[in-house]
Parts: sequence; C-alpha cells; structure tokens
Amino acid sequence: MLLKSLLIIVMLQLTSETYGQAQKKFFRKDYTFLEETQSFYKFFSIAKTYQEAVTTCGRQGATLFYAEDKRELDAVAKFWTQPRDHIFIGISSLISKGVFASVDGRALMDVYNDWLPGEPNDVNGEESCIVMNKKGQMNDISCNRKFPFICKKTLASLEWNAHCQTPYKRYIVNEDLGRCYKFFLTPMNWTEAFAVCNAEESYLAIINSDEEANFLKKMTKDNPKYTVKGNYLAGVVMLGFHNRDRQGWLTIKGATLEDSGYTQWGYAQPDVDDKYLCGAMFYNGELTYGDCSQRSFFICEKEYKSGFDERFGDE
Ligand SMILES: *[C@@H]1O[C@H](CO)[C@@H](O)[C@H](O)[C@H]1NC(C)=O
Repeated sequence: MLLKSLLIIVMLQLTSETYGQAQKKFFRKDYTFLEETQSFYKFFSIAKTYQEAVTTCGRQGATLFYAEDKRELDAVAKFWTQPRDHIFIGISSLISKGVFASVDGRALMDVYNDWLPGEPNDVNGEESCIVMNKKGQMNDISCNRKFPFICKKTLASLEWNAHCQTPYKRYIVNEDLGRCYKFFLTPMNWTEAFAVCNAEESYLAIINSDEEANFLKKMTKDNPKYTVKGNYLAGVVMLGFHNRDRQGWLTIKGATLEDSGYTQWGYAQPDVDDKYLCGAMFYNGELTYGDCSQRSFFICEKEYKSGFDERFGDE
C-alpha cells in the first residue's frame, strides 16, 4: 500500500515536470513574474522616447506597461526600485489628439488613471504622451522626451516554444545542428535586423558548416518571399557577419569566416567595393554582402541545448 502511494507520488511529480509547462511562469530571464498580477515585467532604466519604448517592448513580445488598476499599480511600484521618479506609460493621444488610449486600444477610463492637479494641459499642443510617478500620478508630456519605462507580458498571453526553449513561436528547430532559426519576412536593414534578433535573445544567423548553409537555403526556399511587397532588396538574406570595421569579414561573434567554418562566397564575391559592409547570403546559400542601410529578409539563430530548459536556470 505504502509502495503504491509512493509510486503515485513519483508519477505525479514526473507528470508535472513533463507537462506542467504553463505552470513554470517563465517568459525570459530578464523579466520578473509578479503573482499579484499574473504578469511579467522588466524595468528599462535607460531613457527612451515614447515610440522607442513601444518598439523595444514590442520586439520582445511584450507591451509598454500601464496600470490596469490600483492593485497592479501597487504591485509594480514595489518592483520598480530604480531612482528615477517618472516612467513613460503605454497610454497616449497620438492617434486622436486629446483622446487618450492605451497601446492596446483601451480607453483611458477603463484603466487606472489619476492625473496630477491641472493635468492634462497639453502645453503648446505638444503633450500627447504620459509619464507616471510611483504613486500613479500622471502628467502629459512630449512623446519625444526620454524616460525610463517598463515592459509587461501577461501570463495569459505567454506561449512556449518547447523545442527551441523560447517564448517566440516561429523559431524552428534543427536537432542535428542543435540550433533554432526564425526567418523574418519583414525586410529590415542590417542594424535593425541585428537589434530584432537581440530583442528575441537570439542573434543574426552565422553559418558554420555546409549542412547549416543547406538548412538556411531550404528555409529561405520554404518562406513565401514573393508575396512580400514594398521597397527592399530581394535575392538576399542578411546574416551575422560584416566588414563594418574594415578589418576583413568577421562574424558578429568576432571570428573570421574561415574559423567559423563556412566561406562559400557567391561568384566574384567579395568584390573590392568598400561601400558595402554588411553580410548576407543569396537564396542559394552562397555568401554575398551589401549596403548596411538596404532592407532585406534576415534569419535569427538561437542555440538550444538538448534536455536543458532555460526556465530551470543554468546552475
Ligand atoms: C536602419 O533603419 C533604422 C530605422 O529605420 C534607422 O534608424 C537606421 O539609421 C538604419 N541604419 C542604417 C545603417 O541605415
């Protein structure tokens, strides 16, 4: 009898280890989960404009924080330990002057709001954004001023890509290479692409072998590139190498292409054209390079360790 109950306990524990993904309450290492609000938060102490703050949160799959109610305000005020008095919150009247709405489209009266006396006053007609202090008091201000901010992700909106051990769904795994990849059909320039990968805790892809080149080539082939309209350079996919320091072609990890394991340049590449300093591949997997300000498709890459789950820490 005792043995039987022990067995059941062991089985229950195994089950929760294996299937209890949603219970782990993990989004990213740099976000803190607050039980009171069932959401994750990250404080950004480097001040940014409102639009930069919205973009930063969005790229991480989160939204610019505003308090839903007093309960959330109190929970977050405790978590917000930085010295700065004010943060930008995710409410603005940028869409329609004088009508304040949250980044996810909720009316001001439906979320927590507490204006300082005499606010909003829209000085010079230039104050379409809002800063808030720890007491939750709000003041309208220019969106171009720079303030710290908080990004928020609700547990309810969290998805988990178990293969790639990341909350970002579109990464696909290659078990032989031990890596995951995401193809971006939104053309961006090289520096933006670098930042986007970074925001998803990955990096602009680096090819280390012929197998990897073949995989990226296949991935490129499988993506519906020809449906993407707009002004961008077709025919290439940006990768994580460059000659921006004019020290020769190096990966973003600082290694030469030779040391990285793949040097298959396309026909007559690289040329001596000093203007073009950012690395890419043709759709056929051969390396090329181009103008860093030119927009193109790109691939982010992420290591993953078999049997390792980031949420359990790396101790
Ligand atoms: C890349 O695009 C961003 C955003 O449009 C821009 O701020 C940046 O200057 C561009 N970088 C280059 C190298 O052109």
